[in-house]
Amino acid sequence: MKNIIIAGSINMDIVAQMDKHPENGETVFGKKISFIPGGKGANQARAISRLEGKVALVGKVGKDQFGKSLLRSLNTDGINTGNIKISQNNTTGVALIGVDRQAENRIIIVSGANFDLSPKDISKIDLQKNTIAISQFEVPQNTIKAFFKKAKKAKAQTILNPSPTGKIPPDLLELVDYLIVNEHEFAYLSNTKKLQIDSASLAKNANRIVAIDQVIITTFGAKGSVAIKGSKVIKAPGFKVKAVDTTGAGDSFLGSFSQALAEGRDLKDALTFANAAAALKVTKLGASSMPYRSEVDKFIQDKMRQKNHGF
Ligand code: RIB
Repeated sequence: MKNIIIAGSINMDIVAQMDKHPENGETVFGKKISFIPGGKGANQARAISRLEGKVALVGKVGKDQFGKSLLRSLNTDGINTGNIKISQNNTTGVALIGVDRQAENRIIIVSGANFDLSPKDISKIDLQKNTIAISQFEVPQNTIKAFFKKAKKAKAQTILNPSPTGKIPPDLLELVDYLIVNEHEFAYLSNTKKLQIDSASLAKNANRIVAIDQVIITTFGAKGSVAIKGSKVIKAPGFKVKAVDTTGAGDSFLGSFSQALAEGRDLKDALTFANAAAALKVTKLGASSMPYRSEVDKFIQDKMRQKNHGF
C-alpha cells in the first residue's frame, strides 16, 4: 500500500443549521451552532485515515485554541501531524458554514495561517517514491507547485483538487496525474456549460482541460462519478441516501478515491468505493464526519445484495 501525503488546509468550521439561507439584507434565526474540525486538507486526511490508510498532513495553524484543538483531533484520528507547524503571524483558518433544511451549504473561508504555508515549509518534508501527494486550492499555489515538483522528482503520484474553484496555471497543471473536480468546476475549467453524467461530450470537454496522459475525475453528486483519460470514459453510479449535510462530500470522495488508488485498486472500483464513502458522509452533520472502513465496506455489500444499484 502506498503512503499518502497532503499539503492542505486546516480550519475550524463554525456551522449554523437553519431552515433556509438568508437573502441579501435578510436576517434569519439559526437552530444550532457547532464547532467542527474542517479544512479540505484535514478532511481528506481524516477520510483516508478512517479507511485505514497511512496519511501525513502538511499545514499551518495559529497559536490559538482552535489550532490546539484541531491538532489534537487530527492526532486522535491517527494522522501524522509532524509537518503541521504553528504560524507566528496568523490565526487558525476558520470557515463560517450555513446548512439549510435541504442539506445545502454556503461557506465563507477566512484562510489565516493556511496561507502561511510556504515553499520553504515544503523543502523540509520527506517525500518518497511510494507515495501519493495531494493538494487543493486552500493553500498558496506556489506552495502546491513546490510540493508537486518535489513529488515528481521522487517519482510519486500527484492529485490536485482545484477547489474552491480557480484557474489552474499551466506550469502547475503539467505536474498533475489525477485532477479531481465536481461538475461545476468541470464546466468552469472546460469553459462550457454544465454537463450531465451521461453526456456524450464528457471526453471532448475533459480534453479541453487535461492532456491525454492525465486522468480527470468528475463527481456528479448522488448521480455518481466519472474518470476520463484520453478517449476512455469510466463511470460508476452514485448511491441515494437521506442527506443531512453535503459539506465535505467532495473531501470524502477524494480521500477514499486516493486510498483506493494507494491500495492498487482499478479506476472503476476506486470510483465506486469513493461514491459510497461520499454518500455515507452526507448522512451526517459536519465536513469531517468521514465514514470508517467497516461502514463503507458494509454499505457497498448491502447495496450489492439489494441489487438495486448498477453493479
Ligand atoms: O470542503 C469542505 C471544507 O471547505 C470545510 O471543512 C471548510 O473548512 C472548507 O475548507
